[in-house]
Amino acid sequence: MSLQDLQTRPTLLVVDSGVGGLSIYQPLWQRWPALHYLYAFDNAGFPYGDLSANEVSRRLIALIDAVQQRQHVHLVVVACNTASTAALPLLRQRFSVPIVGVVPAIKPAAAITRSGVIGLLATPATIQRPYIDELIQQFAAHCQVERLGSIELVRLAEAKVRDQAVSTAVIEKILAPWLCRSQVPDTIVLGCTHFPLLSAELSKVLSPEVVLIDSATAVVRQVEKLLRPYCNDQQQALRNKLYDLSRQVNKAYCTRLDASAAALRGTLHDYQLMTLQAISLD
Ligand code: DGL
Repeated sequence: MSLQDLQTRPTLLVVDSGVGGLSIYQPLWQRWPALHYLYAFDNAGFPYGDLSANEVSRRLIALIDAVQQRQHVHLVVVACNTASTAALPLLRQRFSVPIVGVVPAIKPAAAITRSGVIGLLATPATIQRPYIDELIQQFAAHCQVERLGSIELVRLAEAKVRDQAVSTAVIEKILAPWLCRSQVPDTIVLGCTHFPLLSAELSKVLSPEVVLIDSATAVVRQVEKLLRPYCNDQQQALRNKLYDLSRQVNKAYCTRLDASAAALRGTLHDYQLMTLQAISLD
């Protein structure tokens, strides 16, 4: 690897409809703090779980295009299950940059369940996708997979990140279809990137033996493979020395800079996303 290669700081673009993608951004940023990150959230299209697959695809293409017009991007992470299960093949056709998606962790859940009953907690759109039927067929045909879709839970995660209280009673009501069954799933797949942000609240309502499982580790592994030339620890240490990180700060983009988006500035800053700018999708 040449000095010039080491001076190139790869740019990762992480996209979602809202704050959910932060549950994927965070482990990436913690693992490789010296890469350059852009976090783009399409809050004007939120929630994606209420949109058709075509509309989600159209918005994501416009969002990635809009960011690429401002900045050269080396890798895109679609940090949203609803979007990935709808649009990944189309996005990979449309863009030459590598694209990593997030899909519900059905396979690892099928490997660890003891009772054979798995819960899939995702948006109402995700639980109905043909892609999910295929995943279950392929990796969990021997299990009973109970699907529960909730947009309310997505909204609660958005509220929590804005420092609003999350009511245990509301979470209980959302999970009621599982809680009132004789056999509650022993392994629950958090099939929406917003839901790991509510892990503590979900665990409070579920029995302590229930395992919650998300897709962040799988995404980190996949990004590691694609960025191998940039990501080994020795090169990372050298890059830290060579590169003045303050020269090109990590940035966030939203599609509507309203009061609710502006309220995220403090949180984004905590994740070292130093600026928040509006980006339009026309
Ligand atoms: N974070 C998204 C996901 O992983 C969905 C949220 C939404 O409905 O916009 O599915």
